[in-house]
Amino acid sequence: MQQYRHDDEAERADLIDGLLAPHASVQPKHFYDVLGSRLFEAITALPEYYPTRTEAEIFAAHATAIGARCGSGGVLIDLGAGNCQKAARLFGVLRPAQYVALDISVEFLRDTLAGLQQQHPQIPMMGLGADLCAPLALPAPIRQGRRLFFYPGSSIGNFAPDAALALLQRLRAAARQGDGVLIGVDLLKDEAQLVSAYDDALGVTAAFNRNVLRNVNRAIDANFALADWRHVASFDRQGSRIQMHLQAVRDVEVHWTGGGRAFHAGERIHTEDSHKYRVEGFAALLEEAGFADPVCWTDARQWFAVFHARVPA
Ligand code: AVI
Repeated sequence: MQQYRHDDEAERADLIDGLLAPHASVQPKHFYDVLGSRLFEAITALPEYYPTRTEAEIFAAHATAIGARCGSGGVLIDLGAGNCQKAARLFGVLRPAQYVALDISVEFLRDTLAGLQQQHPQIPMMGLGADLCAPLALPAPIRQGRRLFFYPGSSIGNFAPDAALALLQRLRAAARQGDGVLIGVDLLKDEAQLVSAYDDALGVTAAFNRNVLRNVNRAIDANFALADWRHVASFDRQGSRIQMHLQAVRDVEVHWTGGGRAFHAGERIHTEDSHKYRVEGFAALLEEAGFADPVCWTDARQWFAVFHARVPA
């Protein structure tokens, strides 16, 4: 397992800059320590959180067509592997010559991959800690041959459209003729449905959101008290995105090594955007990034779409 090398000092400075900004923010990558990854797994099992389930339905219903279109026997590069379940469901149709799993949560990935390798001993596997905001560096042990870049779960929605385009362009730059992308994308739908997916009755998403403060406390020696913050999920129609914030329930003063900040009751820290696309809009984004011939499969309600596009000849 190769580690994702992050520069702790740069990361600290980045976190503090975000917290000191007039509209404070923490980047969503800070959700994913081991507990955060487990909370996200729990979210995917919630009745309100339809994306994971709907995407799995699409993979099951269109497995043959997806396999035919993507081809089998290539290298499967999973860009946001998490618990690797989404890729594992496609092993049957894709029959990968190698499975390369990337995730920001290296420890979580290591455990998952060990279990998966036992279940699929015939598939060579490799784990890489990676931050997709950085240029994509694929190390030498990745086999030659056709590559399929797999980015399921609508994780692409956590990037603003210009950053999503930049990520697709980085993939395009790393890809060669014959390679392709297979990407899960959450679609625009009724606002109440969207908001409930990010504000579940059990409070798991609230716990996931507040857990970011534990990670911030650890990263910069801060003293955020979780009870001072409530989870808020709202839909921004103009930006076509769910926004998650943490809102101070009282006036609070937070300290960290070398600084601190006061937050008034009601003040918010932005933690995540989750963009929702129209089919035509995402196909256009793929083409703008330099991929060709996009096709998509969707579910009966048109809530989610799985796109495939190729590197042109
Ligand atoms: C990882 N990502 C696709 C999730 C989403 O739906 O944007 C993260 C998430 N945040 C709250 N619930 C799920």
